[in-house]
Amino acid sequence: MKIALTYNLKKKDDTKPADYFSEYDSEETIGSIVSALKTKGHSVEAIDVEYPKLFSYFSKNSVDMVFNIAEGVRGKFRESEVPAILDYLNIPYTGSGTFSLALALNKALTKKILQAENIPTPSFQVFSKGNEELDCLLKFPLIVKPNCEGSAKGINNTNVVHNRDDLFKKVREIILNYHQDALVEEFIEGKELTVGILENGKTRVLPILEIDFSDCNSSGEYFYSWRMKEYQGDKNQGLVPSFHCPARLDKEAEELVKDVALRTHRAVGCMDISRTDIRLDKNNVPYVLEINPLPGLDPKESNFPLMAYAAGMKYEDLIEAILLSASERKRLN
Ligand SMILES: Nc1ncnc2c1ncn2[C@@H]1O[C@H](COP(=O)(O)OP(=O)(O)O)[C@@H](O)[C@H]1O
Ligand SMILES: [Mg+2]
Repeated sequence: MKIALTYNLKKKDDTKPADYFSEYDSEETIGSIVSALKTKGHSVEAIDVEYPKLFSYFSKNSVDMVFNIAEGVRGKFRESEVPAILDYLNIPYTGSGTFSLALALNKALTKKILQAENIPTPSFQVFSKGNEELDCLLKFPLIVKPNCEGSAKGINNTNVVHNRDDLFKKVREIILNYHQDALVEEFIEGKELTVGILENGKTRVLPILEIDFSDCNSSGEYFYSWRMKEYQGDKNQGLVPSFHCPARLDKEAEELVKDVALRTHRAVGCMDISRTDIRLDKNNVPYVLEINPLPGLDPKESNFPLMAYAAGMKYEDLIEAILLSASERKRLN
């Protein structure tokens, strides 16, 4: 197949906030996907979707399929930018469509869908101005997050708050710095889990990945914060989470967690691939935090490939599976 890989490149720019490019992909990830596709016999060109390169590329080239990992640039629907343009140009692409990408990027709206589907998700409230009355049913500790970000942008240990003063301070800080609503959720103590779903012929739930932060105490971080993700493995900072795949769960909990991930994938309308982040509390309630329809695909660092390896797949098999799933959809349409 002739394939275009669409991406946003992670850059170094000291004039931007430290987490500005966190969602974007590194040259290593882009290079790894290109070589995986080539290994499987495809021809591939990688296209940075920075405006207006996408338009100029597709006005001169035709492809069989776009392998899309672009997170987009502008605003709270940014992950839909590239799929919307490809839909308009009638070019097939891998992964979820415009609607699911926009929905999943909005954590609060996704949680409303989960609630309607009886999928457990932490109780929450959205703050748009920062002077709203706090819902008296919410129990501290609470966590404050930007409503429309990923890669734990804007989330560090100070985002977990234990009183109203700290809560409103953090809410206003998020609204001001991230120019969007602040999502306030009950903080769920428990196991950090993430579940990968891969559709290739049949829908496959990969072995669950458990991330254990108990060796990270010296860092001051104790969950999957921005610092934890950005500097994962840095011994000097004490950011050394351990990964267990499959997760250390009994059969019953495993089935429960896989079931909520699958139902979340379907409720949001994801296609080909997704990764659902879950906190399992001490009563074995699997609280869904969010779903990522564009999970990171760094072959060494990202969570999704780890789960694929645990299922016995090589990196190039994972990339090929995403491509084949999208090709099958194209064939059926
Ligand atoms: N309600 C919560 N309870 C406990 N931990 C949470 C909660 N919300 C977020 N976290 C922690 O913060 C991390 C990032 O939050 P998440 O909602 O997944 O945002 P992102 O899209 O930035 O990954 C989670 O993986 C988890 O470690
Ligand atoms: Mg997450």
